Amino acid sequence: MFLAVQAFRDVQCGEKPMTNRTNIQGAGQQHVATRVHWASRMGFILAATGSAIGLGNVWKFPYITGVYGGGAFVLVYLGCVIIVGLPLMISEFIIGRRGQENPVGAFQRLHRDGSVWQAVGWLGVASGFIILSFYSVVAGWAISYVFKSLAGFEGTAEQIQGQFGDLIGSPTWSILWHTVFMALSIGIVIGGVQKGIERWSKILMPALLVILVGLMFYGLFFTNGGTQAIAFLFNPDFSKLSAESVLSALGHAFFTLSLGMGAMITYGSYMGRSTRIVRDAVTISFLDTLIALMAGLAIFSLVFSYGLEPAAGPGLIFQTLPVLFAETGPLISVPFFVLLTFAALSSAISLLEVVVSYFVDERGWSRTKACLIMGTLIYLLGVLCATASIQVAFRGRQQGFLDIFDFITTNYMLPIGGLLTCLFIAWVVKDKVRSEEFGSSGIVYKTTVLTLKFITPIAVLLVILHGLELLPFMEYGQ
Ligand code: TRP
Repeated sequence: MFLAVQAFRDVQCGEKPMTNRTNIQGAGQQHVATRVHWASRMGFILAATGSAIGLGNVWKFPYITGVYGGGAFVLVYLGCVIIVGLPLMISEFIIGRRGQENPVGAFQRLHRDGSVWQAVGWLGVASGFIILSFYSVVAGWAISYVFKSLAGFEGTAEQIQGQFGDLIGSPTWSILWHTVFMALSIGIVIGGVQKGIERWSKILMPALLVILVGLMFYGLFFTNGGTQAIAFLFNPDFSKLSAESVLSALGHAFFTLSLGMGAMITYGSYMGRSTRIVRDAVTISFLDTLIALMAGLAIFSLVFSYGLEPAAGPGLIFQTLPVLFAETGPLISVPFFVLLTFAALSSAISLLEVVVSYFVDERGWSRTKACLIMGTLIYLLGVLCATASIQVAFRGRQQGFLDIFDFITTNYMLPIGGLLTCLFIAWVVKDKVRSEEFGSSGIVYKTTVLTLKFITPIAVLLVILHGLELLPFMEYGQ
């Protein structure tokens, strides 16, 4: 039976197994031979777009665009998506689809069994574990704001803004919402690739789009901040650009496209042979950027219509907007926080899936066991993040775990994972394998490989050095 399935897969793939990894016996191999694939191309695109679209788009992109001054930052960010994001996403899809395994197994299949490159996979699994622990806490705040919106925001601006401090300062509430969110994520991932992740992405993503289009139209046409918002996002003022903002744009391109930790390797491993990697990567990057810009328009129209500061920072969504929502009422605020919750949920399931796929493929665990055990461990780490009063000394001051984990993953783990992934594809994987997966060997392919060999790694290295505060031309204050 096993041989028959394997032979079928070989015929289907039109190729021989690539490494001797297929000779290893064990549950992991059975899984490879019978690996489930996405039921449809649409399902795959929605799931991968769902992973990409998250708190990064609705919360982080608008606030950093606000902080770094608008249009010029947006242009640089678009450049980063094209030069760094897209080539890296293509690389992750190549590794995933060729490997047909979790990130650790996939690197081995493309190189050799026991290859040191599997360490990149481990780094990814570890990043997924840590990111989800704090991501779920922030997502929990989003759910809590759905209910706060239903009840309505009342009081003075200070009182409304103060609600946020009350929430994050209260472990009870933060942990409660974190529990709800983790339970939802685990519930979806237990359902599996087709019946869990794909099915829910097909529900969450269209819903998200409908809500966002509605909010954007409201902002553009029913408030008087629309024109200003468009000008702010699309009229570049290059005098506002700094080295700092360029590096932030680069780092954000990474985070928002879910790159550098094997999420796209894992999703790519569920791709069939017939999908076209480049076309799909372009679609996903485009949709992610589109949604970020739409969220920006919706949010800044509101902000400008009330004459508020676009550069409010991380509190933009949970502090500034609720003050406006007190005026607009729940008809705007409820959909907004539902949108944020949906965006976070479809990303969280991709983070959990990376960890789960490792234990299923490599350790032979059942999906349910992997979801429950790893989900619970991640949940417990999240409890630490949700308890703001637990602080340790980090980089010279007392900080909570949420900020520390965010800092370490965004600045070190993801860029390092991304750098190694790109070097692996550019310098280690054979040209034949690469071009086969790419789907052509013409000028587009050659340009992409050249970019991956030189431009992407240098750009990512700059982000890493910046994270380490080691760039000679920047000023780092303590
Ligand atoms: N891309 C998501 C966002 O914009 C976050 C995310 C999900 C992520 N999965 C990831 C980031 C994997 C890095 C790696 O919010």
